[in-house]
Amino acid sequence: MNLFEVRLQKYINDVEKDMKALFEDKELYLSETLLESIKYSLFSGGKRLRPILSRAVAEMLDGDTASARMAGAAIEMIHTYSLIHDDLPSMDNDDYRRGKLTNHRVFGSGMAILAGDGLLTYAFYVLSRLPLPAEKVVKIVELISASAGIQGMVGGQALDLGAENREIGLEEMKKIHRAKTGALFRASILSGAYCSELSEEEFLALDRFAEKLGLTFQIVDDILDVVGDEEKLGKETGSDAKSNKATYPSLLGLEAAKEEAERNAREAKEELKVFGEKASFLIELMDFIVVRQF
Ligand code: IPE
Ligand code: IPE
Ligand code: MG
Ligand code: MG
Ligand code: MG
Repeated sequence: MNLFEVRLQKYINDVEKDMKALFEDKELYLSETLLESIKYSLFSGGKRLRPILSRAVAEMLDGDTASARMAGAAIEMIHTYSLIHDDLPSMDNDDYRRGKLTNHRVFGSGMAILAGDGLLTYAFYVLSRLPLPAEKVVKIVELISASAGIQGMVGGQALDLGAENREIGLEEMKKIHRAKTGALFRASILSGAYCSELSEEEFLALDRFAEKLGLTFQIVDDILDVVGDEEKLGKETGSDAKSNKATYPSLLGLEAAKEEAERNAREAKEELKVFGEKASFLIELMDFIVVRQF
């Protein structure tokens, strides 16, 4: 492992620890089955990129990393809920996720829906307890709820469903990708910023970085759905073609999709220039997102 990989692995381990600690409260175990279903999906691997981004941004800015880690854990719970629901028979109808059977295949659709609902709601309980001044907590809740909801991920998932079996153009697809995937990445990055002190110029640069990172991430996800290795990905490939989804490779072809991902990633890294040396981890993370095989 190189230095970047060592740091990434340490961050992943810390995310596991942070999230485990959030499930020690006995009062959560009203329904043991619900908790089993939640933990089945939450603690089943995953790259943990969203909480890693929140933390890495706060570290880069010498901010409150403990709060950024907690906000990141909340976003990871929202992300995991989005995956559980995304896999349901009435959505993408997938059988594998993070190397295991999907939640509904083990616990049934009813419990899978509730596991998602529970994760989403608990995430906001966790955010309400962030050890920050109340006005900062409110800003973070505003950011994350907008990013996860109708104006963000949920809205994007609705557009994604509406685009099945239909020809769409590049601009419409970008809009879907930005909302369904980009919004939660943006929330991760900007929540790290909200846990720190930074200039307006730095905030805007991070916002543009986030926007480009999110789009790059989903382009690569679309490419991996065509050419990825199922073992490494932990999910079945060919899911998009099966549902007739509009994706970068289906619209532009594989090569142009790859070029588009690389171009976006290059532009994303440009936005980090204002942070100098301190941005080195984020730059390496951006490179990882392009070349990742899982
Ligand atoms: C998969 O996200 C869903 C998308 C938004 C494309 P990730 O690839 O981050 O999934 P995990 O968390 O690592 O399993
Ligand atoms: C899902 O996009 C984005 C979410 C909000 C969950 P995909 O449907 O492409 O994600 P995968 O490929 O199933 O992980
Ligand atoms: Mg989907
Ligand atoms: Mg899917
Ligand atoms: Mg996909």
